[in-house]
Amino acid sequence: MALNGFKDIVPSEVELWRKVENTGRDIFSRFNFSEIRMPILEKTELFARSIGEATDIVEKEMYTFVDKQITMRPEATASLLRAYIQHGLYVQKPVQRLFTIGPMFRHERPQKGRLRQFHQMDIEVLGTPNPRVDAELMAMGAMLLEELGIPVSLEMNSLGCPVCRPGFREILLTFIADRKNELCDDCNRRSTTNPLRVLDCKNPKCREQVEEAPSIQKHLCNDCDDHFASVQKGLDSLNVQYSLNKFMVRGLDYYTRTTFEFITSDLGAQAAVGAGGRYDGLVEKLGGPKVPGIGFALGMERLVLLLQQQEVKIDSAKVDLFVAGLGEKASEFAFSLAHTLRQNSLNIAMDYEGRSLKSQMKQANKLNARFVLIIGENELEQGHAVLKNMQTQEQQDIEIHSDNKEIASSLLLRCQ
Ligand code: HAM
Repeated sequence: MALNGFKDIVPSEVELWRKVENTGRDIFSRFNFSEIRMPILEKTELFARSIGEATDIVEKEMYTFVDKQITMRPEATASLLRAYIQHGLYVQKPVQRLFTIGPMFRHERPQKGRLRQFHQMDIEVLGTPNPRVDAELMAMGAMLLEELGIPVSLEMNSLGCPVCRPGFREILLTFIADRKNELCDDCNRRSTTNPLRVLDCKNPKCREQVEEAPSIQKHLCNDCDDHFASVQKGLDSLNVQYSLNKFMVRGLDYYTRTTFEFITSDLGAQAAVGAGGRYDGLVEKLGGPKVPGIGFALGMERLVLLLQQQEVKIDSAKVDLFVAGLGEKASEFAFSLAHTLRQNSLNIAMDYEGRSLKSQMKQANKLNARFVLIIGENELEQGHAVLKNMQTQEQQDIEIHSDNKEIASSLLLRCQ
């Protein structure tokens, strides 16, 4: 058995995975993104410094080899920024638009849509604070989900910046202090380390308590306020629907200003299919230049689950031609002909067990083969075989001779 929270992706699911990934790749290239690939293992301190020491991810969920101080990445942003700094990508282009696709690891309690090894499509723009980019990224995410046929709502907040957030933190602390006895243990602990997290506690009692909590959107400095207004203007101009959510604070500490989540109502507790935001101080914090950044990641398991729930089915790769050899000599001929046909880009299947014609036709049907080439022992000696169109049931005689290449070109013409 595979480990709890680790999942095989079996062939019948892979087509949906490819649909998700191909749609992503297509859209990322429309928006001029380049792919980057990073290793899975990184120094533990990279994640502690970026995601934050007091977050659930760093405190409880990371797969860390303690003796080696290395960790299997729980997300892609920190690794991508490490690579961006290490390779001086900011020198090559003032604005880098990068995406990466791959597995991430978090030791969470597994449930529907939540795994310990999961996959993200992660997109980052480094080098511009422009609010239009925030709007464009959200619009790109919305476009991707729409093209996949996955309905979501987009929720957005601003978390301010080092100028305005400390002031809001104080206001929030006063609000929390008055309700201390009504809040859960986690919230009480967080109120000293990370009071903003109290706002997104899932405990219904805490939710009730923070309903009237002050909104950070009302306590932004002028620059953040202008930025937030421009992001909304950008979304309006692209006709992207969204709503503001003062409770969205995100579980990673690196965010500044814009944060957002794409939410589905079809996956129970794991409602976020994608999420992200701006992190203007993070590159510098990790030892790079003062470069602003923004990005988001989509959870691929959740996207695939939603497609499965909608019973989206994709035809598996079509077999162009099933080569049916009858008897040892014909099978040997079929074996080498199949190879030549594959060299000529045809998708070929065949039988290796010397089965009867009836059984080989059954196999061809099961594989949804478009044509079957039937090569009998006697026919082979007489230099011909039968090509059957499985859709029309039409049969035609094909000349068979010793030159596989010539047979291949005549079959290529007929199997178009
Ligand atoms: P995140 O909110 O931790 O953000 O994860 C992004 C998405 O990954 C989630 O919305 C969810 O769809 C998926 N996801 C997260 N954990 C799991 C899990 N255990 N099982 C299945 N899916 C999961 C980040 O990771 C940030 N790095 C996003 C970002 C990029 N921010 C800026 N740039």
